[in-house]
Formats: sequence, structure tokens, C-alpha cells
Amino acid sequence: MAILSVRKYGDPALRRRAAPVEAVTPDVRKIIADMVDTMYDEVGLGLAAPQVGVSLRLMVVADEEGRGARALINPVITEQGGEIVAEEGCLSLPGVFAPVKRAEWVRLDAQDPDGKTVTVNARGLRARVFQHEMDHLDGVLFIDRLDPVTRDRIKRRIKKEGFAEDAAAHRAFAL
Ligand code: NI
Repeated sequence: MAILSVRKYGDPALRRRAAPVEAVTPDVRKIIADMVDTMYDEVGLGLAAPQVGVSLRLMVVADEEGRGARALINPVITEQGGEIVAEEGCLSLPGVFAPVKRAEWVRLDAQDPDGKTVTVNARGLRARVFQHEMDHLDGVLFIDRLDPVTRDRIKRRIKKEGFAEDAAAHRAFAL
């Protein structure tokens, strides 16, 4: 297992639409294990494969207690409802936080690492994590979902200042 480097905003890997996982090969299992290590090293709640430069439809999500982690392969949101605005961050945009509108709850179908189909229901923060990671699989970042004025302000700040060195102190909600 290994800690992988997380791609930052500006890296083209974050903008590609990821391809489906055709089979859970030993390579895919290794990527999953490394992604879990990386997520915990970065104190994130979730991590999508494109964030570590792997263009596959694959995400890992911390469990509610922050102890275990679950890998979801080829996830699809099948149902969603409600609407909630809350602050969001991303490991690929260290130190950047902004309120994002998301569905309040989601239902998701995916495969687990054993190839079994699983259905996951989530609400609140967990539902937010799933939607955020799903976006990564489509090359979408949370700042794309902000109003243009806020988004441009953030982009200008990143261009001018880069990412804050002390961002780690504020990573609690980074996905
Ligand atoms: Ni993210």
C-alpha cells in the first residue's frame, strides 16, 4: 500500500470523464487500497480515482465513524431529492471552501470490490460526499457549481496566491 499524490486544480486528470471499471483486477484492488491510505493520510472523507490520476469510475468513502472505508465501483445515482446548501471543500483545491447546493439525499447503485451490486442510501454530509465524488468521475469540480462571480473570485485568488500551505488545518470537510 502507498500514499498517492493528490492531483491539484489545473491538472488535466481532474477534467477527464472517467471510464467504467471493466473488471476488479489485482491492479484495481491495489488502487483501492492506496486510495484508502491516501484518503486517511489527507484526512479526507472521500476520494475519487481521477484525483490520484486514475481515470476510472471508482471512489472511496470514509464510513460514518471515520474508521473504515468503503470502495464503490461504477457508481450511479439512481434517485435523489431535497436541496441543501452547505460549505464544501476538495483535496484537489486545498484551502478553498464555498457553499454548494446539493440534493439532500441520494440513492446510489454500485459494485463493491467483490463484484457484488450494492445500493447505498445517504443523506446530509454523506450524501454530499457521494455527489461530490460522482462529479469528480465526470471531470466536474465543486467550484464549477458556484455562481460565476464567486467562481471567478476563487480562480483569481488561486492564480495569484496558489494554494495555502497551511490548508491542512482546515481540511475537515475536504472531499
Ligand atoms: Ni474533491
